Amino acid sequence: MTTLLVLGATGLVGGHLLRQALDDPRVERVVAPVRRALDAHPKLDAPVVDFDALPDDASWWDVDAVACALGTTIRDAGSREAFRRVDVDYVVDVARRARSAGARSFVLNSSAGASRSSFGFYLRCKAEAEDAVAALDYPSYTIVRPSMIGGERARRRALEHAVVRIARAGSVLIPARWRVVEAEAIARGMLDAAIVATPGMHVVESDAI
Ligand SMILES: NC(=O)c1ccc[n+]([C@@H]2O[C@H](COP(=O)([O-])OP(=O)(O)OC[C@H]3O[C@@H](n4cnc5c(N)ncnc54)[C@H](OP(=O)(O)O)[C@@H]3O)[C@@H](O)[C@H]2O)c1
Repeated sequence: MTTLLVLGATGLVGGHLLRQALDDPRVERVVAPVRRALDAHPKLDAPVVDFDALPDDASWWDVDAVACALGTTIRDAGSREAFRRVDVDYVVDVARRARSAGARSFVLNSSAGASRSSFGFYLRCKAEAEDAVAALDYPSYTIVRPSMIGGERARRRALEHAVVRIARAGSVLIPARWRVVEAEAIARGMLDAAIVATPGMHVVESDAI
């Protein structure tokens, strides 16, 4: 039985991950640090935290595996620096704390095109987070790199929603690697990778999700 820490549990992918993990008999307990409260569940510990001042000594860091779907946009964050703080610093901070407490498996929802040499700041940050987590030497580390993510958001982002609709309509014309991937499927793959914890580092590109 696995104890799993889910990061980004109030988001689209993270919400699916949370529901799937709570329903999964292989998962004994779910820890989901959040900045706004979640509904109670007998298997869930969801501390409301300030990600700029995470507790050092909380017993809930003691998990087997971490699945991370945390992230924002430069627009929502307000600046590149604020975006990087969430998508890189928060992710790596949690990864480091969980690893110190004994976690052995980490699954990161990154992005298609993540690369240190990308022209896009977003994709360079995603690559930076990937590399920083790799340096923590998790015995099992899986990076999932979805293209556009499809699914029903609580707060619809108009441009993103339109792009996903167009991409879905023309999906046969789009190379598999750039097609819309459903959040539910991403979460399913992340949960399995976190629990099975195959040793080594694994990269799952969008067309393999
Ligand atoms: N959308 C796409 O098409 C796409 C494509 C490729 C990769 N990705 C990446 O995939 C991952 C998951 O995407 P998603 O669409 O599921 O994300 P999402 O729905 O926007 O959810 C993001 C999660 O991160 C949390 N978060 C954001 N800013 C935060 C902050 N300042 N402090 C604490 N928590 C914060 C959110 O918490 P709140 O609910 O409290 O805001 C939420 O739980 C992200 O890393 C994203 O960059 C997305």
